[in-house]
Amino acid sequence: MDTEITVISDSANEAPVKPLRVAFIGCGGIAQTHISYLKKMPGVSIIAGADLRQAALDHMHTAHGVAKDHLFTSFDEMLATVGSEIDAVSVCTSNGAHAPAVIAVAKAGKDMLCEKPIAMSAQEAEGMVAAVKAAGVKLTSSNLERSAEFCTSVRKPFAAVASRTGASSAAKSCRVAVH
Ligand SMILES: NC(=O)c1ccc[n+]([C@@H]2O[C@H](COP(=O)([O-])OP(=O)(O)OC[C@H]3O[C@@H](n4cnc5c(N)ncnc54)[C@H](O)[C@@H]3O)[C@@H](O)[C@H]2O)c1
Repeated sequence: MDTEITVISDSANEAPVKPLRVAFIGCGGIAQTHISYLKKMPGVSIIAGADLRQAALDHMHTAHGVAKDHLFTSFDEMLATVGSEIDAVSVCTSNGAHAPAVIAVAKAGKDMLCEKPIAMSAQEAEGMVAAVKAAGVKLTSSNLERSAEFCTSVRKPFAAVASRTGASSAAKSCRVAVH
């Protein structure tokens, strides 16, 4: 399903936007989608990136103008070298690398978005949340379709059963099999 997001800005009537300098850990496919929307937002600039693949870093330079000395093959090196210039980080690595990246970003004191699924296990996710809480930073995840009708409609049968039986309607997820 394609989801089109429109960034609405009435710049004539808005207070000046505080600049937000964003870095990427993982500069592959979904990072390019994030960047395409961030570029529409006033005051946002993409200033650094880390990726294991040199080709992905080269693309950050040629397509998005990120300075070569702000592109790294190690996110630890990025945070250590240009961390003071970064306001927020988008973690867009493959799933297995989310946890170490999120924990490193938290320790660096930056707010962040982490792509979904945030972790490979509940235990891993708990470690990430603990690091975020200890650092006092913000972490959000990119579950675009949580509010979409086809997802919210899944909750309705639970609510109906709960109102009939008095059972808890606190179900947060379910697995649907279509035969
Ligand atoms: N929210 C959505 O709708 C949506 C859509 C697609 C993908 N995703 C998620 O986004 C994430 C990335 O997916 P993608 O399609 O962009 O994959 P991708 O393979 O195109 O990009 C991932 C990038 O991360 C880099 N990487 C991996 N480990 C790294 C590490 N330790 N340090 C630095 N860079 C590292 C890879 O080299 C690669 O360039 C996944 O978690 C995926 O589930 C979410």
